[in-house]
Amino acid sequence: MTVTNEAEKQARVDALLVQGKNVYQPLYNYPHKPAIGPLRPCLDRCRAVEEAMGDNIEGRKLWDAGCSLGYNTLYFVDRGMIGRGSDIDPRNVSLCQEIQLYTPGSATFVQEELSAETCAQIAPGDFDYAFFFSILHHIVQNKGLKHVQGMMQMLTERIPVLFVELALKSEIPPPGYTWDTYLPDEELAIFETCGALDIQLIGHFATHVGPVPRPLYRVSRKNGGGTS
Ligand SMILES: C[S@@+](CC[C@H](N)C(=O)[O-])C[C@H]1O[C@@H](n2cnc3c(N)ncnc32)[C@H](O)[C@@H]1O
Repeated sequence: MTVTNEAEKQARVDALLVQGKNVYQPLYNYPHKPAIGPLRPCLDRCRAVEEAMGDNIEGRKLWDAGCSLGYNTLYFVDRGMIGRGSDIDPRNVSLCQEIQLYTPGSATFVQEELSAETCAQIAPGDFDYAFFFSILHHIVQNKGLKHVQGMMQMLTERIPVLFVELALKSEIPPPGYTWDTYLPDEELAIFETCGALDIQLIGHFATHVGPVPRPLYRVSRKNGGGTS
């Protein structure tokens, strides 16, 4: 890429950064200083999830739902996975598409709403792993706990391993947000209707929201669920 092209790209990235609601994530492999810094890091979660995945992730298919600026998708694409990031916010998807060329490998980013309707379109074998990091509380608020329980039922039947980072009812959301009032007391209630699952706690991770760290779980079906 020529210097002019690179300067134009940087200007486009900065323009997208300043026009959005927030800058949630760092820009993976982006070689310039972004106009706005991130609300929270991602490397801590990526390292923990990578360890939980074990070896043999090359060529595995990953779906990162609510991918924000694509950090988590691109981290694993950089390690050989085939990544699909989706987000409801078109500005986030544009940013992902702007920065994805700094990471070799196979990454696709699409604008898409995560809902029971989109989950119903997934077929077994489409993905080996899926991430739902700090997104499900928004859907519990907008569509209700039963809707999300139905989603989790479909997802655990169709994708061998899910990693979920869950907001907690005990958090105090930033001004203007009220998702805490919609959340169940017990965060794993979203899996209550799924039948037998193997749920492992991977760790707790700090957020910009407040002092309460969020749990991140690895979820697979008992009896044969999971990838080897
Ligand atoms: C709190 S951020 C978390 C970002 C990222 N998953 C992480 O943990 O680093 C939530 C993201 O989910 C997206 N989002 C919220 N509701 C969504 C939905 N129903 N479908 C798809 N994306 C959604 C937002 O645009 C935002 O990028």
